[in-house]
Amino acid sequence: MDDNERSNGYSPLEAAIYGNSFRALHLSAQSTGFRTHGFRHRSLSHANDLRIAEDFLINTRYLRYDRETETSIQSYFMDPGVTILSNLGREEKAGIAEIRIPEGVRLRRELGDVLARRRSSRSYTGDPIDLKFLATIIRSAGAVTGYGNVDLMSGGQATIRFRSAPSGGGLYPIDIYVASLKINGLERGLYRYDPLDDTLLQAGDRHDVDRLVGAFAIPEEIVSLSRANAIFALVGHPWRSMRKYGNRGLRFLFMEAGAIAENIHLATGALGFGSVDCASVHEDEAHTAMHIDGLYQTLLHTVLLGYPG
Ligand SMILES: Cc1cc2nc3c(=O)[nH]c(=O)nc-3n(C[C@H](O)[C@H](O)[C@H](O)COP(=O)(O)O)c2cc1C
Repeated sequence: MDDNERSNGYSPLEAAIYGNSFRALHLSAQSTGFRTHGFRHRSLSHANDLRIAEDFLINTRYLRYDRETETSIQSYFMDPGVTILSNLGREEKAGIAEIRIPEGVRLRRELGDVLARRRSSRSYTGDPIDLKFLATIIRSAGAVTGYGNVDLMSGGQATIRFRSAPSGGGLYPIDIYVASLKINGLERGLYRYDPLDDTLLQAGDRHDVDRLVGAFAIPEEIVSLSRANAIFALVGHPWRSMRKYGNRGLRFLFMEAGAIAENIHLATGALGFGSVDCASVHEDEAHTAMHIDGLYQTLLHTVLLGYPG
């Protein structure tokens, strides 16, 4: 029975009173305080919420005739842009403890075999792992593996370095951090890999590692973080890509984090260790632990590594 049928037989005043006091309850994301993501999805047709993720997808598409983006990209083929590329990763390191990492071990297992066996591994024995194995995994994630010389318009050449994981525009906007938990030869601490010098730079002490571990939201029965050997934390510099590609550049950071993470998994698997991606981390807490601001340097992803057990 609808409003009109109900009001039959009533005076206009009574009908108006009835009409004004009747209010259909439309269950929607707007009329509800606590909203699960599934509920938001079901009520999309009558919700008026901010749609940040979809706005991101729409506003980061590559459009034809976007002269601002085209010009920004072109500038990276001119001398100043090439110079930026050739200087990537160069930084002042005065006062930062620098740790040489040893030669690694060769990855001998056949790729097809590694791929076929790759599976997330969440249970670890807690036995320590030697630094030489971690060194191999770090280098697989992001070492400099090649060089290219580019002729400058003004004369001379600039050298550009390439790394083990691909990167949009060769901008390498992701830093690889490693928290050493149980690594023979590497004190418990937080380190940032420097691909140019192939060293680890001290980025935090054991207390920072405790804070980083505390930022994870995973029950021990699901992932035995307390017995993991290392945490890889991939930290992006969004503006390094966005300066060239605009907001679209942020897409590249997520893609590149995936490529680096997969390199970590494949190297880990080839060595017989276990690893798992872990998105269950409270980023704000991790940023505090890692002494980064969360915007100009922001945690993109983490991978845990351990002796499978
Ligand atoms: C982006 C991403 C985030 C993930 N986050 C978690 C996580 O927080 N906790 C977890 O136990 N597994 C996590 N995983 C692992 C997936 O659960 C796993 O890859 C999936 O179940 C498929 O299983 P497989 O990796 O063994 O093939 C994540 C995987 C990806 C790619």
